[in-house]
Amino acid sequence: MNDFSFYSPTRCVFGRGACDRTGEEVAAEGFRRALIVYGGGSVVRTGTLDRVKRSLDQAGIGYVELGGVRPNPEVELVRKGIELARAEAVDVVLPVGGGSAIDCAKAIALGVRYDGDVWDFFAKRAVPADRLPVAVVLTIPASGSEASNSCVINNDAQQLKCGINTDLNRPVLAILDPELTFTLPPYQTAAGVTDMISHVMERFFSGEPAVPVTDNIACGLIRAAIDAAPRVMDDPRDYDARANLMWVGTLAHNGLAGCGLGIPGKRDGDWTCHGLEHELSALDPAITHGAGLAVIFPSWMRFVWREHPERFLEFGRQVFGIEPVDPELDDLSDIDEEITPERAVHDAVEATIDELQDFFVSLGMPRTLGELGIAEEDIEKLMPGLAINRGERFGSFKELTLDDAREIYRSAL
Ligand code: NZQ
Ligand code: ZN
Repeated sequence: MNDFSFYSPTRCVFGRGACDRTGEEVAAEGFRRALIVYGGGSVVRTGTLDRVKRSLDQAGIGYVELGGVRPNPEVELVRKGIELARAEAVDVVLPVGGGSAIDCAKAIALGVRYDGDVWDFFAKRAVPADRLPVAVVLTIPASGSEASNSCVINNDAQQLKCGINTDLNRPVLAILDPELTFTLPPYQTAAGVTDMISHVMERFFSGEPAVPVTDNIACGLIRAAIDAAPRVMDDPRDYDARANLMWVGTLAHNGLAGCGLGIPGKRDGDWTCHGLEHELSALDPAITHGAGLAVIFPSWMRFVWREHPERFLEFGRQVFGIEPVDPELDDLSDIDEEITPERAVHDAVEATIDELQDFFVSLGMPRTLGELGIAEEDIEKLMPGLAINRGERFGSFKELTLDDAREIYRSAL
Protein backbone atom coordinates (compact mmCIF):
# COMPACT_ATOMS: atom_id res chain seq x y z
CA MET A 1 0.00 0.00 0.00
CA ASN A 2 1.47 3.35 -1.03
CA ASP A 3 1.67 6.30 1.36
CA PHE A 4 -1.15 8.80 1.10
CA SER A 5 -2.70 11.88 2.65
CA PHE A 6 -6.47 11.69 2.97
CA TYR A 7 -8.19 15.03 3.56
CA SER A 8 -11.94 15.35 3.33
CA PRO A 9 -13.01 18.39 5.33
CA THR A 10 -16.50 18.73 3.85
CA ARG A 11 -19.28 18.47 6.43
CA CYS A 12 -22.07 16.48 4.80
CA VAL A 13 -25.64 17.06 5.97
CA PHE A 14 -27.58 14.19 4.47
CA GLY A 15 -31.26 13.32 4.31
CA ARG A 16 -34.88 14.15 3.65
CA GLY A 17 -35.62 17.84 3.93
CA ALA A 18 -31.95 18.79 4.43
CA CYS A 19 -32.49 21.45 1.75
CA ASP A 20 -34.78 23.37 4.13
CA ARG A 21 -32.01 23.49 6.73
CA THR A 22 -29.51 25.15 4.38
CA GLY A 23 -29.81 28.50 6.16
CA GLU A 24 -29.17 27.19 9.64
CA GLU A 25 -26.27 25.02 8.46
CA VAL A 26 -24.68 27.92 6.57
CA ALA A 27 -25.17 30.14 9.63
CA ALA A 28 -23.59 27.46 11.82
CA GLU A 29 -20.45 27.79 9.70
CA GLY A 30 -20.41 31.48 10.60
CA PHE A 31 -21.37 32.94 7.21
CA ARG A 32 -23.63 35.99 6.83
CA ARG A 33 -23.91 36.76 3.12
CA ALA A 34 -23.99 34.28 0.22
CA LEU A 35 -23.59 34.35 -3.54
CA ILE A 36 -26.09 31.74 -4.76
CA VAL A 37 -24.95 30.18 -8.04
CA TYR A 38 -27.29 28.01 -10.13
CA GLY A 39 -27.74 26.56 -13.59
CA GLY A 40 -30.16 26.84 -16.48
CA GLY A 41 -33.32 26.89 -14.40
CA SER A 42 -34.07 23.39 -13.08
CA VAL A 43 -33.80 24.66 -9.49
CA VAL A 44 -36.27 27.43 -10.31
CA ARG A 45 -38.77 25.01 -11.85
CA THR A 46 -38.49 22.44 -9.07
CA GLY A 47 -38.86 25.01 -6.30
CA THR A 48 -35.47 24.11 -4.79
CA LEU A 49 -34.13 27.64 -5.19
CA ASP A 50 -37.13 29.12 -3.36
CA ARG A 51 -36.71 26.62 -0.54
CA VAL A 52 -33.04 27.48 -0.17
CA LYS A 53 -33.77 31.22 -0.19
CA ARG A 54 -36.55 30.83 2.35
CA SER A 55 -34.26 28.97 4.70
CA LEU A 56 -31.53 31.60 4.25
CA ASP A 57 -34.10 34.29 5.08
CA GLN A 58 -35.15 32.41 8.21
CA ALA A 59 -31.53 32.14 9.32
CA GLY A 60 -30.85 35.81 8.64
CA ILE A 61 -28.37 35.15 5.84
CA GLY A 62 -28.30 37.77 3.10
CA TYR A 63 -27.76 36.72 -0.52
CA VAL A 64 -27.34 37.73 -4.14
CA GLU A 65 -27.88 35.41 -7.11
CA LEU A 66 -26.05 34.37 -10.25
CA GLY A 67 -28.06 32.04 -12.51
CA GLY A 68 -27.46 30.68 -15.98
CA VAL A 69 -24.49 28.36 -15.44
CA ARG A 70 -24.57 25.97 -18.39
CA PRO A 71 -23.46 22.32 -18.26
CA ASN A 72 -19.68 22.38 -18.89
CA PRO A 73 -19.47 25.84 -17.30
CA GLU A 74 -17.72 28.66 -19.13
CA VAL A 75 -15.11 31.04 -17.75
CA GLU A 76 -16.91 34.24 -18.85
CA LEU A 77 -19.69 33.66 -16.29
CA VAL A 78 -17.05 32.91 -13.67
CA ARG A 79 -15.56 36.37 -14.30
CA LYS A 80 -19.01 37.93 -13.91
CA GLY A 81 -19.49 36.04 -10.65
CA ILE A 82 -16.15 37.26 -9.29
CA GLU A 83 -17.19 40.88 -9.88
CA LEU A 84 -20.55 40.29 -8.25
CA ALA A 85 -19.05 38.54 -5.24
CA ARG A 86 -16.64 41.42 -4.72
CA ALA A 87 -19.23 44.15 -5.22
CA GLU A 88 -21.62 42.47 -2.79
CA ALA A 89 -18.95 41.52 -0.24
CA VAL A 90 -20.24 37.96 0.17
CA ASP A 91 -18.47 35.66 2.60
CA VAL A 92 -19.54 32.33 1.07
CA VAL A 93 -20.36 31.02 -2.41
CA LEU A 94 -23.43 28.76 -2.42
CA PRO A 95 -23.99 26.71 -5.58
CA VAL A 96 -27.40 25.04 -5.83
CA GLY A 97 -27.07 22.41 -8.53
CA GLY A 98 -24.63 19.88 -9.95
CA GLY A 99 -20.99 19.82 -10.95
CA SER A 100 -21.42 22.73 -13.35
CA ALA A 101 -22.88 25.17 -10.80
CA ILE A 102 -20.47 23.89 -8.14
CA ASP A 103 -17.38 24.25 -10.35
CA CYS A 104 -18.46 27.72 -11.46
CA ALA A 105 -18.83 28.61 -7.77
CA LYS A 106 -15.43 27.10 -6.90
CA ALA A 107 -13.76 29.12 -9.66
CA ILE A 108 -15.49 32.30 -8.46
CA ALA A 109 -14.32 31.52 -4.92
CA LEU A 110 -10.70 31.24 -6.09
CA GLY A 111 -10.91 34.26 -8.38
CA VAL A 112 -12.26 36.61 -5.72
CA ARG A 113 -9.04 36.20 -3.76
CA TYR A 114 -6.73 36.71 -6.77
CA ASP A 115 -5.69 39.94 -8.45
CA GLY A 116 -5.13 38.53 -11.94
CA ASP A 117 -7.51 36.81 -14.37
CA VAL A 118 -9.00 33.59 -12.97
CA TRP A 119 -8.09 31.67 -16.14
CA ASP A 120 -4.44 31.96 -15.07
CA PHE A 121 -5.10 29.10 -12.64
CA PHE A 122 -6.51 26.86 -15.36
CA ALA A 123 -3.72 27.76 -17.78
CA LYS A 124 -1.28 26.83 -14.99
CA ARG A 125 0.20 30.35 -15.03
CA ALA A 126 -0.65 30.84 -11.34
CA VAL A 127 -1.32 28.69 -8.30
CA PRO A 128 -4.22 29.64 -6.03
CA ALA A 129 -3.23 30.66 -2.51
CA ASP A 130 -6.61 31.49 -1.00
CA ARG A 131 -10.34 31.23 -1.65
CA LEU A 132 -13.75 32.21 -0.38
CA PRO A 133 -15.43 29.22 1.31
CA VAL A 134 -17.93 27.23 -0.75
CA ALA A 135 -21.08 25.54 0.63
CA VAL A 136 -23.06 23.31 -1.72
CA VAL A 137 -26.70 22.28 -2.14
CA LEU A 138 -26.41 19.27 -4.44
CA THR A 139 -29.17 18.43 -6.94
CA ILE A 140 -27.51 15.69 -9.02
CA PRO A 141 -25.20 12.91 -7.86
CA ALA A 142 -22.51 12.69 -10.51
CA SER A 143 -19.42 14.86 -10.43
CA GLY A 144 -18.60 14.40 -6.75
CA SER A 145 -17.59 18.07 -6.83
CA GLU A 146 -19.48 18.57 -3.55
CA ALA A 147 -16.47 17.09 -1.71
CA SER A 148 -13.72 16.91 -4.34
CA ASN A 149 -10.56 18.96 -4.72
CA SER A 150 -11.29 19.56 -8.42
CA CYS A 151 -12.76 22.38 -10.43
CA VAL A 152 -13.24 22.04 -14.21
CA ILE A 153 -14.02 25.03 -16.44
CA ASN A 154 -14.46 25.48 -20.20
CA ASN A 155 -12.92 28.32 -22.18
CA ASP A 156 -14.88 28.53 -25.43
CA ALA A 157 -12.63 31.18 -27.02
CA GLN A 158 -9.67 28.84 -26.69
CA GLN A 159 -11.73 25.65 -27.14
CA LEU A 160 -10.27 24.30 -23.91
CA LYS A 161 -11.63 22.57 -20.85
CA CYS A 162 -9.17 22.56 -17.98
CA GLY A 163 -9.21 21.42 -14.38
CA ILE A 164 -7.30 22.39 -11.29
CA ASN A 165 -6.87 20.25 -8.21
CA THR A 166 -6.21 21.86 -4.85
CA ASP A 167 -7.54 21.28 -1.36
CA LEU A 168 -8.71 24.90 -1.50
CA ASN A 169 -11.44 23.57 -3.81
CA ARG A 170 -12.98 21.35 -1.15
CA PRO A 171 -16.34 22.75 -0.03
CA VAL A 172 -16.79 23.32 3.69
CA LEU A 173 -20.40 22.12 3.67
CA ALA A 174 -22.53 19.89 1.42
CA ILE A 175 -26.29 19.67 1.79
CA LEU A 176 -27.24 16.26 0.38
CA ASP A 177 -31.02 15.91 0.12
CA PRO A 178 -31.83 12.89 -2.06
CA GLU A 179 -35.41 14.08 -2.63
CA LEU A 180 -34.02 16.95 -4.71
CA THR A 181 -32.93 14.38 -7.29
CA PHE A 182 -36.44 12.95 -7.93
CA THR A 183 -36.84 15.41 -10.81
CA LEU A 184 -33.70 14.38 -12.69
CA PRO A 185 -34.26 13.35 -16.31
CA PRO A 186 -33.26 9.70 -16.97
CA TYR A 187 -30.35 10.71 -19.22
CA GLN A 188 -28.81 12.92 -16.51
CA THR A 189 -29.37 10.25 -13.88
CA ALA A 190 -27.59 7.72 -16.08
CA ALA A 191 -24.75 10.07 -16.93
CA GLY A 192 -24.32 10.74 -13.22
CA VAL A 193 -24.12 7.04 -12.41
CA THR A 194 -21.54 6.59 -15.16
CA ASP A 195 -19.48 9.49 -13.86
CA MET A 196 -19.42 8.28 -10.24
CA ILE A 197 -18.45 4.74 -11.30
CA SER A 198 -15.74 6.27 -13.48
CA HIS A 199 -14.33 8.22 -10.54
CA VAL A 200 -13.83 4.95 -8.68
CA MET A 201 -12.41 3.16 -11.73
CA GLU A 202 -9.89 5.92 -12.48
CA ARG A 203 -8.43 5.17 -9.06
CA PHE A 204 -8.85 1.38 -9.10
CA PHE A 205 -6.95 1.20 -12.39
CA SER A 206 -4.12 3.46 -11.28
CA GLY A 207 -1.49 0.88 -12.20
CA GLU A 208 -0.44 0.44 -8.58
CA PRO A 209 -0.77 -2.97 -6.91
CA ALA A 210 -3.89 -4.12 -5.07
CA VAL A 211 -4.87 -2.46 -1.78
CA PRO A 212 -7.53 -4.80 -0.38
CA VAL A 213 -9.09 -2.26 2.00
CA THR A 214 -9.45 0.34 -0.75
CA ASP A 215 -10.37 -2.21 -3.43
CA ASN A 216 -13.21 -3.48 -1.28
CA ILE A 217 -14.50 0.05 -0.70
CA ALA A 218 -14.15 0.78 -4.43
CA CYS A 219 -15.93 -2.32 -5.67
CA GLY A 220 -18.58 -1.98 -2.95
CA LEU A 221 -19.35 1.57 -4.11
CA ILE A 222 -19.65 0.39 -7.70
CA ARG A 223 -21.89 -2.55 -6.75
CA ALA A 224 -24.14 -0.17 -4.79
CA ALA A 225 -24.42 2.13 -7.83
CA ILE A 226 -25.13 -0.78 -10.17
CA ASP A 227 -27.81 -2.01 -7.80
CA ALA A 228 -29.52 1.38 -7.32
CA ALA A 229 -29.37 2.66 -10.91
CA PRO A 230 -32.03 0.42 -12.48
CA ARG A 231 -34.26 1.05 -9.48
CA VAL A 232 -34.27 4.82 -10.04
CA MET A 233 -34.78 4.26 -13.75
CA ASP A 234 -37.92 2.24 -12.93
CA ASP A 235 -39.09 4.60 -10.20
CA PRO A 236 -37.50 8.07 -10.14
CA ARG A 237 -39.01 8.67 -6.69
CA ASP A 238 -37.41 5.61 -5.05
CA TYR A 239 -35.91 7.44 -2.07
CA ASP A 240 -33.65 4.66 -0.92
CA ALA A 241 -32.11 4.11 -4.34
CA ARG A 242 -31.71 7.87 -4.90
CA ALA A 243 -30.10 8.20 -1.46
CA ASN A 244 -27.64 5.41 -2.15
CA LEU A 245 -26.63 6.98 -5.45
CA MET A 246 -26.15 10.34 -3.80
CA TRP A 247 -23.81 8.96 -1.16
CA VAL A 248 -21.90 6.81 -3.65
CA GLY A 249 -21.36 9.91 -5.78
CA THR A 250 -19.78 11.77 -2.88
CA LEU A 251 -17.60 8.91 -1.64
CA ALA A 252 -16.52 8.06 -5.18
CA HIS A 253 -14.65 11.34 -5.53
CA ASN A 254 -13.69 12.64 -2.08
CA GLY A 255 -10.46 10.62 -2.17
CA LEU A 256 -11.57 7.64 -0.07
CA ALA A 257 -11.62 5.28 -3.05
CA GLY A 258 -7.99 6.05 -3.90
CA CYS A 259 -6.16 5.69 -0.58
CA GLY A 260 -2.95 3.76 -1.12
CA LEU A 261 -3.47 3.46 -4.88
CA GLY A 262 -1.72 6.66 -5.88
CA ILE A 263 1.89 7.64 -6.08
CA PRO A 264 2.58 10.12 -3.27
CA GLY A 265 2.69 13.68 -4.56
CA LYS A 266 0.78 12.78 -7.73
CA ARG A 267 -2.92 12.22 -8.40
CA ASP A 268 -4.57 9.17 -6.87
CA GLY A 269 -5.40 7.46 -10.12
CA ASP A 270 -4.79 7.34 -13.82
CA TRP A 271 -7.38 9.89 -15.01
CA THR A 272 -6.70 9.28 -18.71
CA CYS A 273 -10.37 8.62 -19.47
CA HIS A 274 -11.33 11.91 -17.83
CA GLY A 275 -8.65 13.61 -19.91
CA LEU A 276 -9.95 12.03 -23.11
CA GLU A 277 -13.55 12.91 -22.22
CA HIS A 278 -12.82 16.51 -21.28
CA GLU A 279 -11.58 17.10 -24.84
CA LEU A 280 -14.94 15.89 -26.17
CA SER A 281 -16.92 18.31 -24.00
CA ALA A 282 -14.42 21.09 -24.82
CA LEU A 283 -15.06 20.54 -28.54
CA ASP A 284 -18.81 20.34 -28.04
CA PRO A 285 -20.15 21.60 -24.69
CA ALA A 286 -23.48 19.93 -25.50
CA ILE A 287 -21.81 16.59 -24.72
CA THR A 288 -22.63 15.42 -21.20
CA HIS A 289 -19.50 14.44 -19.28
CA GLY A 290 -20.88 11.08 -18.06
CA ALA A 291 -22.12 10.14 -21.52
CA GLY A 292 -18.66 10.77 -22.94
CA LEU A 293 -17.13 8.59 -20.24
CA ALA A 294 -19.57 5.74 -21.03
CA VAL A 295 -17.99 5.56 -24.49
CA ILE A 296 -14.36 6.32 -23.61
CA PHE A 297 -13.87 4.07 -20.59
CA PRO A 298 -14.58 0.71 -22.26
CA SER A 299 -12.43 1.71 -25.26
CA TRP A 300 -9.53 2.68 -23.00
CA MET A 301 -9.92 -0.58 -21.08
CA ARG A 302 -9.74 -2.69 -24.23
CA PHE A 303 -6.57 -0.80 -25.19
CA VAL A 304 -4.71 -1.10 -21.90
CA TRP A 305 -5.85 -4.16 -19.93
CA ARG A 306 -2.91 -6.37 -20.92
CA GLU A 307 -0.64 -4.12 -18.86
CA HIS A 308 -2.13 -5.35 -15.56
CA PRO A 309 -4.66 -8.12 -16.28
CA GLU A 310 -4.79 -9.02 -12.58
CA ARG A 311 -6.52 -5.71 -11.80
CA PHE A 312 -9.20 -6.44 -14.38
CA LEU A 313 -9.67 -9.96 -13.06
CA GLU A 314 -10.11 -8.59 -9.55
CA PHE A 315 -12.57 -5.96 -10.79
CA GLY A 316 -14.56 -8.53 -12.80
CA ARG A 317 -14.65 -10.92 -9.87
CA GLN A 318 -15.76 -8.32 -7.30
CA VAL A 319 -18.15 -6.26 -9.41
CA PHE A 320 -19.70 -8.80 -11.78
CA GLY A 321 -18.79 -12.19 -10.32
CA ILE A 322 -16.81 -13.10 -13.44
CA GLU A 323 -14.04 -15.70 -13.00
CA PRO A 324 -11.73 -17.02 -15.74
CA VAL A 325 -12.63 -20.58 -16.68
CA ASP A 326 -10.45 -23.20 -15.06
CA PRO A 327 -10.00 -26.46 -17.02
CA GLU A 328 -9.25 -28.23 -13.72
CA LEU A 329 -12.60 -27.24 -12.21
CA ASP A 330 -14.99 -26.36 -15.02
CA ASP A 331 -16.72 -28.77 -17.36
CA LEU A 332 -15.48 -27.67 -20.80
CA SER A 333 -16.72 -30.72 -22.71
CA ASP A 334 -19.00 -28.52 -24.87
CA ILE A 335 -16.07 -26.41 -26.07
CA ASP A 336 -14.04 -27.72 -29.01
CA GLU A 337 -11.00 -25.46 -28.74
CA GLU A 338 -8.35 -25.72 -26.09
CA ILE A 339 -8.71 -23.07 -23.38
CA THR A 340 -5.20 -21.96 -22.48
CA PRO A 341 -4.70 -19.95 -19.28
CA GLU A 342 -4.02 -16.87 -21.46
CA ARG A 343 -7.23 -17.42 -23.34
CA ALA A 344 -9.16 -17.81 -20.07
CA VAL A 345 -7.82 -14.48 -18.79
CA HIS A 346 -8.54 -12.76 -22.12
CA ASP A 347 -12.12 -14.01 -22.16
CA ALA A 348 -12.77 -13.06 -18.53
CA VAL A 349 -11.41 -9.54 -19.00
CA GLU A 350 -13.28 -8.95 -22.25
CA ALA A 351 -16.47 -10.28 -20.63
CA THR A 352 -15.95 -7.85 -17.74
CA ILE A 353 -15.55 -4.89 -20.09
CA ASP A 354 -18.58 -6.02 -22.13
CA GLU A 355 -20.63 -6.30 -18.95
CA LEU A 356 -19.65 -2.79 -17.85
CA GLN A 357 -20.38 -1.27 -21.25
CA ASP A 358 -23.70 -3.12 -21.55
CA PHE A 359 -24.66 -1.78 -18.13
CA PHE A 360 -24.01 1.83 -19.21
CA VAL A 361 -25.96 1.23 -22.43
CA SER A 362 -28.83 -0.38 -20.49
CA LEU A 363 -29.24 2.94 -18.65
CA GLY A 364 -29.49 4.86 -21.93
CA MET A 365 -25.87 5.87 -22.35
CA PRO A 366 -24.22 5.82 -25.80
CA ARG A 367 -21.93 3.02 -26.98
CA THR A 368 -20.14 5.00 -29.69
CA LEU A 369 -18.72 8.47 -30.28
CA GLY A 370 -20.95 8.64 -33.35
CA GLU A 371 -23.97 8.75 -31.04
CA LEU A 372 -22.42 11.87 -29.48
CA GLY A 373 -21.98 13.51 -32.88
CA ILE A 374 -18.23 12.92 -33.07
CA ALA A 375 -16.88 11.73 -36.44
CA GLU A 376 -13.46 10.52 -37.57
CA GLU A 377 -12.48 13.99 -38.83
CA ASP A 378 -13.12 15.47 -35.37
CA ILE A 379 -10.40 13.40 -33.72
CA GLU A 380 -7.58 15.71 -34.82
CA LYS A 381 -9.48 18.66 -33.30
CA LEU A 382 -9.24 16.96 -29.90
CA MET A 383 -5.47 16.65 -29.99
CA PRO A 384 -4.20 20.21 -29.28
CA GLY A 385 -6.23 20.45 -26.07
CA LEU A 386 -5.17 16.97 -25.00
CA ALA A 387 -1.51 17.88 -25.55
CA ILE A 388 -1.93 21.02 -23.45
CA ASN A 389 -3.80 19.30 -20.64
CA ARG A 390 -2.01 15.95 -20.53
CA GLY A 391 1.29 16.43 -22.36
CA GLU A 392 2.88 14.13 -24.95
CA ARG A 393 2.91 11.13 -22.60
CA PHE A 394 0.34 10.44 -19.93
CA GLY A 395 -1.39 7.72 -17.94
CA SER A 396 -0.16 5.60 -15.04
CA PHE A 397 -1.91 2.26 -15.67
CA LYS A 398 -0.17 2.25 -19.04
CA GLU A 399 1.79 5.17 -20.36
CA LEU A 400 0.17 6.42 -23.54
CA THR A 401 1.13 8.74 -26.38
CA LEU A 402 -1.05 11.09 -28.37
CA ASP A 403 -1.10 8.44 -31.12
CA ASP A 404 -2.48 5.94 -28.60
CA ALA A 405 -5.17 8.48 -27.74
CA ARG A 406 -6.06 8.78 -31.44
CA GLU A 407 -6.33 5.00 -31.57
CA ILE A 408 -8.63 4.88 -28.51
CA TYR A 409 -10.88 7.58 -29.98
CA ARG A 410 -10.95 5.75 -33.33
CA SER A 411 -11.87 2.46 -31.71
CA ALA A 412 -14.82 4.23 -30.05
CA LEU A 413 -16.29 5.74 -33.25
O1 NZQ B 1 -28.73 23.64 -15.57
P1 NZQ B 1 -29.98 23.16 -14.91
O2 NZQ B 1 -31.21 23.77 -15.45
O3 NZQ B 1 -29.90 23.22 -13.41
O4 NZQ B 1 -30.14 21.59 -15.31
C1 NZQ B 1 -29.16 20.62 -15.03
C2 NZQ B 1 -28.30 20.31 -16.24
O5 NZQ B 1 -29.02 20.44 -17.42
C3 NZQ B 1 -29.84 19.30 -14.76
N1 NZQ B 1 -30.21 19.10 -13.36
C4 NZQ B 1 -29.39 19.11 -12.28
N2 NZQ B 1 -30.07 18.79 -11.18
C5 NZQ B 1 -31.36 18.59 -11.56
C6 NZQ B 1 -31.46 18.79 -12.95
N3 NZQ B 1 -32.60 18.66 -13.62
C7 NZQ B 1 -33.69 18.31 -12.92
N4 NZQ B 1 -33.68 18.07 -11.59
C8 NZQ B 1 -32.55 18.20 -10.89
N5 NZQ B 1 -32.52 17.92 -9.57
O6 NZQ B 1 -28.86 18.32 -15.07
C9 NZQ B 1 -28.00 18.83 -16.10
C10 NZQ B 1 -26.56 18.53 -15.74
O7 NZQ B 1 -26.12 19.33 -14.65
P2 NZQ B 1 -24.55 19.48 -14.40
O8 NZQ B 1 -24.35 20.29 -13.20
O9 NZQ B 1 -23.90 19.90 -15.66
O10 NZQ B 1 -24.16 17.94 -14.15
P3 NZQ B 1 -22.94 17.26 -13.44
O11 NZQ B 1 -23.13 17.25 -11.98
O12 NZQ B 1 -22.77 15.99 -14.14
O13 NZQ B 1 -21.68 18.22 -13.70
C11 NZQ B 1 -20.95 18.14 -14.89
C12 NZQ B 1 -19.75 19.05 -14.84
O14 NZQ B 1 -18.90 18.68 -13.75
C13 NZQ B 1 -17.58 18.44 -14.26
C14 NZQ B 1 -17.84 17.95 -15.64
O15 NZQ B 1 -16.70 17.98 -16.46
C15 NZQ B 1 -18.92 18.92 -16.10
O16 NZQ B 1 -18.36 20.15 -16.45
N6 NZQ B 1 -16.84 17.55 -13.36
C16 NZQ B 1 -16.44 18.08 -12.18
C17 NZQ B 1 -15.70 17.35 -11.28
C18 NZQ B 1 -15.24 17.94 -10.02
N7 NZQ B 1 -15.33 19.25 -9.86
O17 NZQ B 1 -14.77 17.23 -9.10
C19 NZQ B 1 -15.29 15.98 -11.56
C20 NZQ B 1 -15.98 15.35 -12.72
O18 NZQ B 1 -15.15 14.34 -13.23
C21 NZQ B 1 -16.36 16.28 -13.81
O19 NZQ B 1 -15.27 16.52 -14.69
ZN1 ZN C 1 -16.07 12.74 -13.87
